[in-house]
Amino acid sequence: MKPKVLLTHPLLKEAMDYLADQVDLELATEELFLPKAELISKLKDKEGLLCFLTDQVDKEVIDEAPELKVIANCAVGVNNIDVSYARRRGILVTNTPEVLTEATADLTLALILATTRRLVEADRFCRQGKFQGWKIDLFLGQELSGKTLGIIGFGRIGRAVARRAKAFNLKVIYYDPHPLSRNQEKELGAEFRDLDSLLSESDIVSIHASLTPQSYHLISKERLGLMKKTAVLINVARGPIVDEKALVEALEQGKIWAAGLDVYENEPQIEPKLLQLENVILLPHIGSATYETRRKMCFMSVNNLLQGLRGERPNNLVEVD
Ligand code: GLV
Repeated sequence: MKPKVLLTHPLLKEAMDYLADQVDLELATEELFLPKAELISKLKDKEGLLCFLTDQVDKEVIDEAPELKVIANCAVGVNNIDVSYARRRGILVTNTPEVLTEATADLTLALILATTRRLVEADRFCRQGKFQGWKIDLFLGQELSGKTLGIIGFGRIGRAVARRAKAFNLKVIYYDPHPLSRNQEKELGAEFRDLDSLLSESDIVSIHASLTPQSYHLISKERLGLMKKTAVLINVARGPIVDEKALVEALEQGKIWAAGLDVYENEPQIEPKLLQLENVILLPHIGSATYETRRKMCFMSVNNLLQGLRGERPNNLVEVD
């Protein structure tokens, strides 16, 4: 008999067809949001769960799923899952690291360039028929060459951003609770700073940390106050790492120059005041959204799930600290 699996939302078709061949598959919904009660009731008799970052798999959900053996998250971040509780219950949790590193680093650079050179604002200007001719001070922005990029969270994605930054002649400094060895720092051309020094020294601050109780509101009102008035904040990691209300205030009052956001504190809701501001670029959580990467993420999560269901150790098992 094939194992029963719940897929919360569709995968890309090819991967979903492949999964459906291997298991007894139920697709929970075609909607963007799956209510918790529905997740609980559909998961009752399932051995496997393939879910996404929009699904909250907490203690209550896990407690109501007596047959569950594997939770395969189709994302690298696992803040939507109570991983330590799952592991205590003997349930394997997997994620999709590495395959999305380059795409997410590309999007970070896109946001750095778009914010510093005001691309979206300038595009709106053209569409509104306001371009009347070249002008010496039209859409002046911040130059990258010779500036300092501060990277918060220096894992795979943070380092991929650092490698790209070299091409723009940026000086790279980083903060991470686990600093690299001198040799690794040399190889990447990056210097460690404590968080407050990084914030006050950087012209661009880019967040690449995972969301944990320790990183929640790491970028608080006080810390935003340490940044330069000309600085730009980029967040492609998780929204709650930044105090969004404090960020709005900093942008409104010109305490920082601009922000580029791919993630929000209460996704999919965006703080309404952010929508009114010209000096912020807003994206709908598309860090890993390339054809190549999303396909790899789909197959990686399916394979992790199948490995776990077969009683093997999945390739991308999330370890509990
Ligand atoms: C995307 O945000 C992911 O964690 O994969």
